[in-house]
Amino acid sequence: MTPSVDLNDGRSIPQLGYGVFQIPPAETSRAVAEALEVGYRHIDTAEMYGNEREVGEGIRAFGVPRSDVFVTSKLNNGFHRPDAARNAFDRTLGALGFEYLDLFLIHWPLPTRYDGDFVSTWRVLEEFYREGRARSVGVSNFKPHHLRRLHEEAEITPAVNQIEVHPYLTQDGVRAFCAEHQIAVEGWSPIGRGQVLGDPEIVTIAQRLGRTPAQVVLRWHIERGDIIFPKSVTPGRIRENFGIFDFELTGADVETITALNRDHRFGGDPDTVDFIPD
Ligand SMILES: NC(=O)c1ccc[n+]([C@@H]2O[C@H](COP(=O)([O-])OP(=O)(O)OC[C@H]3O[C@@H](n4cnc5c(N)ncnc54)[C@H](OP(=O)(O)O)[C@@H]3O)[C@@H](O)[C@H]2O)c1
Repeated sequence: MTPSVDLNDGRSIPQLGYGVFQIPPAETSRAVAEALEVGYRHIDTAEMYGNEREVGEGIRAFGVPRSDVFVTSKLNNGFHRPDAARNAFDRTLGALGFEYLDLFLIHWPLPTRYDGDFVSTWRVLEEFYREGRARSVGVSNFKPHHLRRLHEEAEITPAVNQIEVHPYLTQDGVRAFCAEHQIAVEGWSPIGRGQVLGDPEIVTIAQRLGRTPAQVVLRWHIERGDIIFPKSVTPGRIRENFGIFDFELTGADVETITALNRDHRFGGDPDTVDFIPD
């Protein structure tokens, strides 16, 4: 059984989910059904991934009740202005074929766009929350100085902050800020897109435990309390990544992996990312 993390709005989220970034639309429905078959009940998508429709189709095709699956999507960077955000949210629900989302996020703060005003965008997500069309609302790629602005200027505290986290980017500063403000941390690229799995320290721990490096790294996140959703289109890996609840790391293992931090981002820096899709 997947453990859950309690959110600051009274809801809870499965700590392990399935991410669909970079899964081509034609493969998404099959991949989602595969993940549901293995036991995942939390799917992380985004409008910018171009596969929301197929996520909804995969869930319906598998036949699980909508209420049994926790689904997250995110606002496209091109739609931060309030009216554009309202329309984009309607389109997201329409594409998924859902009446509500479990969690909706601002994908990037884009401080160099929209006059640096992500607070107005956040107020629109507050509307979705009050309407019940987003059961929880949160942000992604927010640094403490972005979160502080919401804290000072907005009414609702984000339920989550989804940020890049893996052994080479442990993000302990942002995580400490989030812990202090009851914001749950979701770690994206939890296995560093596969690029941390050959690390000798991780391989050594995996060999001792008779587990794979990916399982060890995913377990490290679980023991630190973060929410994760590794992506794979490979059936064996989808299953492997789910098999992390029948073993534990020692405290020393957790410390060894955390000490691998080198503040290395595989993705962009939230202060400078300004990407807007065509
Ligand atoms: N909010 C944001 O800005 C943001 C940004 C990036 C990602 N995300 C979310 O986070 C999710 C996960 O991040 P991610 O997709 O960037 O990276 P990731 O989950 O760390 O890594 C995915 C890569 O690792 C491979 N892989 C998966 N399981 C493996 C295993 N057991 N052994 C070896 N290799 C394995 C996958 O290959 P195959 O698929 O070929 O098996 C894929 O190439 C995304 O899907 C998305 O939902 C959010």
